[in-house]
Amino acid sequence: MRATFQVRVENRSGMPTRNGQGQTMPYAAITGWGKAVPKRILTNYDLEKLVDTTDEWIVSRTGIRERRIVGEGESTTSLGVEAARQAMARAGCAVDDIDLIIVATATPDDFLVSEACLIQAELGGSGAAFDIGAACAGFVTALSVGSQFVIGGVYRRVLIVGVDTLTRYIDYTDRGTCILFGDGAGAVVLETTDSPRGLISTVLGADGAGHKHLYVPKTAKLAPDSAELLSEVSPYMKMNGREVFRFAVQVMGDSAAEAVQKADLTFDNIDMLIPHQANLRIIDAAARRFDLPREKVWVNVDRYGNTSAASVPIALCEAAEAGALAEGNNVVLVAFGAGLAWAAGVVRWGIEGTSTARPA
Ligand code: ACO
Repeated sequence: MRATFQVRVENRSGMPTRNGQGQTMPYAAITGWGKAVPKRILTNYDLEKLVDTTDEWIVSRTGIRERRIVGEGESTTSLGVEAARQAMARAGCAVDDIDLIIVATATPDDFLVSEACLIQAELGGSGAAFDIGAACAGFVTALSVGSQFVIGGVYRRVLIVGVDTLTRYIDYTDRGTCILFGDGAGAVVLETTDSPRGLISTVLGADGAGHKHLYVPKTAKLAPDSAELLSEVSPYMKMNGREVFRFAVQVMGDSAAEAVQKADLTFDNIDMLIPHQANLRIIDAAARRFDLPREKVWVNVDRYGNTSAASVPIALCEAAEAGALAEGNNVVLVAFGAGLAWAAGVVRWGIEGTSTARPA
């Protein structure tokens, strides 16, 4: 497996940047945030009844104690809508103010219609709407794409949703995967500002050759003659856990380091690391590498497990709600996932210069 990083999208940590016409380019501040998780809790003790495992094994190898899984009346769409509504309320905007909805998901409720359109159907509005597929790296990737629309002056407000219901594709007889995943959604609103806020550096990368280490097989065969093919179909996630673990430890560290360097910062200037919540051992390895104390690393994997594209925005939302993020703070977001893909960035937290910052 290669472990090189190709893409540097932006470095906008300091002086205003000008476009080809000499105009000052704005920034894309995060002005609202929200999250949603299913009601049903699946604990490690519940899993002990399903597969040959123990709470002690799961906690010591992953840090996970419980996760949420979708039940009656819950879906990718319902979770995404709830998180989006909270984010818009926090940003003080209505759906008609949103120019674009981007949804990061690997588990849309429909194969043909984008999840962004399904969410828009519930929210209302008629702006642009499309999905991004980068599995657990999806939210940070979507944040990067959405920010480009704001920075380029194309749109003023963009809603980004990270949502997944991977438990629908989990084999609850496979102890190697069923202990890891949960469902959830997180969302943010981006708004244009002239102050240096929002993403100030981005690192995106992928190693497609690694797709074989983490995938859901044969779902394409469900479409034609599905009755005939059904016996062959195994629509459950397959994962080479050790290989993904090795990849994750390296790429989380390397891409976070690159994002900080591209922002002309060092980890001494970083106020919070918000990593993809896949495994506490992977998070701890990154924290050790950068010598970050625990209070500067947001961890909720114990309560939600790996919620895929929802993982980073749920953690970001929790950190914001807890008052752990202050105006002007530097926040590192970093994620990896199926693809294999990765995404990292430094966000300068705060709403300076946005309409949310001004009294109504
Ligand atoms: N309970 C008890 N024993 C188990 C369990 C379990 N749930 N699962 C595996 N074992 C056993 C194995 O069978 C193995 O036994 P053996 O030595 O007799 O063969 C032993 O435990 C060790 O297995 P390993 O796979 O080496 O265990 P490891 O410490 O690597 O932990 C884990 C496994 C938790 C899956 C880890 O490899 C991991 O977290 N990998 C990363 C996975 C990940 O992050 N995936 C998400 C990617 S993001 C996305 O896009 C969805």
